[in-house]
Amino acid sequence: MEKERRDFMGLSLGLFTAAGSIGALYAMKRTWDPLPSVKAAGFTTIELANAKPNELVVEKWRGKPIFVLKKSADMEANDRDVIVGGDRFHISIGLCTHLGCIPAYEKDNHEFFCACHGGRFNASGINEPGLPPPSPLEIPPFKINGTQLVLGEEGPEYKKMKIDNLIA
Ligand code: FES
Repeated sequence: MEKERRDFMGLSLGLFTAAGSIGALYAMKRTWDPLPSVKAAGFTTIELANAKPNELVVEKWRGKPIFVLKKSADMEANDRDVIVGGDRFHISIGLCTHLGCIPAYEKDNHEFFCACHGGRFNASGINEPGLPPPSPLEIPPFKINGTQLVLGEEGPEYKKMKIDNLIA
């Protein structure tokens, strides 16, 4: 009788632990999941409605990493910002303009840091003077469609950036 009770308690504890682990894994996976996106024939459509401020999302478009960063209220506005649903986003090709490494985003100081040769870009993708990167992070062709960003198509906002010489 005592053995059965111990077996039952052991089994209960095992099931409880397993359920907890699955729950934790599910929560971690949700954290890691990128924004919902659809890829088709050279275009990548990213839903921005659920993007979180100051959290970098890296998407892939034509084999290149694309940085999508929703700016928080304390982050400086810039003409390079893409405005979607009233929110400001930094969108760029995530390749350092020095020699093409992928910079990392530092949430605490709102900067991109390229570990290859110490390059730095602010949260608008502007390179810090005096460091190796010669120019800002490039902005990929994009179109805004409601709360969605379509990469690979030149919409009016992108064309205006071109006219304003914000696109290299
Ligand atoms: S490749 Fe980024 S600083 Fe050199």
